Amino acid sequence: MKITVTAKDGTSVKADILALPFNTKDLKKEAAKVLQGLGINASAAEDFKGSAGELALLYRPASGKGASRIALLGLGEGKTNDDYRKAAESLARKAVDMHLGVVAFDCSEMTQWSKHSKRSPEYLAALLAEGFLYGAYRFDRLKSDKLDKEKKKGADKPKTVAELVLAGCGEHTPEVEKGSDSGSIIGLCQNMSRDLVNLPGSHLSAEDLAEAAREAGKRGCFDVTVFDRKRIAELGMGGLLAVNQGSEQPPTFIILDYQPKGKHKKSVALVGKGVTFDSGGISIKPAQGMDEMKSDMSGAACVIGTIEAVARLGLPVRVIGLIPATDNMPSGSALKPGDVITTMSGITVDVGNTDAEGRLILADALTYAKKEYDPDVLIDLATLTGACVVALGHQAAGLFSNEDGLADDLFRSGQSTGEKVWRMPLWEEYDELIKSDVADVSNTGGRWGGAVTAAKFLEKFIDGHKCWAHVDIAGPAFLAKVGGKAPGGTGFGVRLLVDLLKGWS
Ligand code: BES
Ligand code: MN
Ligand code: ZN
Repeated sequence: MKITVTAKDGTSVKADILALPFNTKDLKKEAAKVLQGLGINASAAEDFKGSAGELALLYRPASGKGASRIALLGLGEGKTNDDYRKAAESLARKAVDMHLGVVAFDCSEMTQWSKHSKRSPEYLAALLAEGFLYGAYRFDRLKSDKLDKEKKKGADKPKTVAELVLAGCGEHTPEVEKGSDSGSIIGLCQNMSRDLVNLPGSHLSAEDLAEAAREAGKRGCFDVTVFDRKRIAELGMGGLLAVNQGSEQPPTFIILDYQPKGKHKKSVALVGKGVTFDSGGISIKPAQGMDEMKSDMSGAACVIGTIEAVARLGLPVRVIGLIPATDNMPSGSALKPGDVITTMSGITVDVGNTDAEGRLILADALTYAKKEYDPDVLIDLATLTGACVVALGHQAAGLFSNEDGLADDLFRSGQSTGEKVWRMPLWEEYDELIKSDVADVSNTGGRWGGAVTAAKFLEKFIDGHKCWAHVDIAGPAFLAKVGGKAPGGTGFGVRLLVDLLKGWS
């Protein structure tokens, strides 16, 4: 999709639809006037309230120039990031559903929006571009449309929006251009992450995930190195090898390394869980919902998307991505409950449950991160526990950190990007629950406090790192059916981490 910016008035831009955004306050004063100017009876908009993302479709008499479809688009109060992002998202959704090719968005009130929201036009434009790309996303690459009569007939109709025109930008045009460029990078990288999450096990193995990282590296001009099974064994990554033991496909360990040109203040290592499919292994999961476990590499997808975005934005932070990747399968050679394994750190683990596999592969990645890079900040992201979904639902990720400043920064980024995180404890009382009689630690802590005991397990492998955070994204990474539609992968964490890293730039 192309995003263009013009000073030209939206009403005269050649487009399939023109969106006229209103906040709840201006709506009362302005809407009637604007509609009359377009030859539309103002009463057509009577029921429109202007809440964020609300959309009312109207038609204006053909005038020869400009779009005949008019979308009244709600900005809510027009004060928060969400107001603008939601509006753009909902417009994009509508445009894709209606197969509209060119969408114009009236930005002539930019000065007002900027004053009202205390955000720069550049910042607001970034929100609009990001939201629009997010809303226009569809996962349809595995559809051939061979059985869909409607689609066959409408083969000439555009499948997705070809162009978004931010119109009426006047003197703000250069700033809006800048903002829409950076917002597009974030939106595109997040959608790339969503594709990875949505791809099923049949289409995304540990090696495929490595290939996706290499491609991101090419787009973002950063280094990607992939360790194969032999190298993983040489390094003694016993956790990753153990989880992979039952698989027909080899594991990979993927390293993404973005070094900014010039000086940087901080180095950050991002570790992402890359379980391409989690059957549970010998401790097999129930059939119900097991298909959703194709999303168990959402942490990895987030790391790849974030680093590509950071690189393409040219942020002055060193970012290293570390991804242990494998599927978790039962077979005659699979890891068994009760087995004891030795991780790269030398710490031995009593495997109480083979379905607690994420922490086994993350243990090695954390050890490797600390040993090889000793980064200023260490953050891991993982769809780690069902218990975290029970605690927070799909609305927020669980946050665990040994550093209050880092936790606060992550919380703030969560509020500003809408990818919310909520802090949970790492108190030592929980250590009791993961003690083992036969090994140094157990990978299961029993029924209660499952998200916390998982985090406590990971903490044993950071080797005293002073600025670590673990983000359990099991809830928000993947959304099951909502209103008949399955939105699937959300790309959760890309926006969150890019915002965090921007804040440190
Ligand atoms: N990948 C799952 C966690 C998960 C659950 C992610 C639901 C997304 C949605 C993880 O590997 C897992 O199976 N965890 C177990 C741990 C338990 C065996 C200690 C769980 O949460 O049940
Ligand atoms: Mn599992
Ligand atoms: Zn898992």
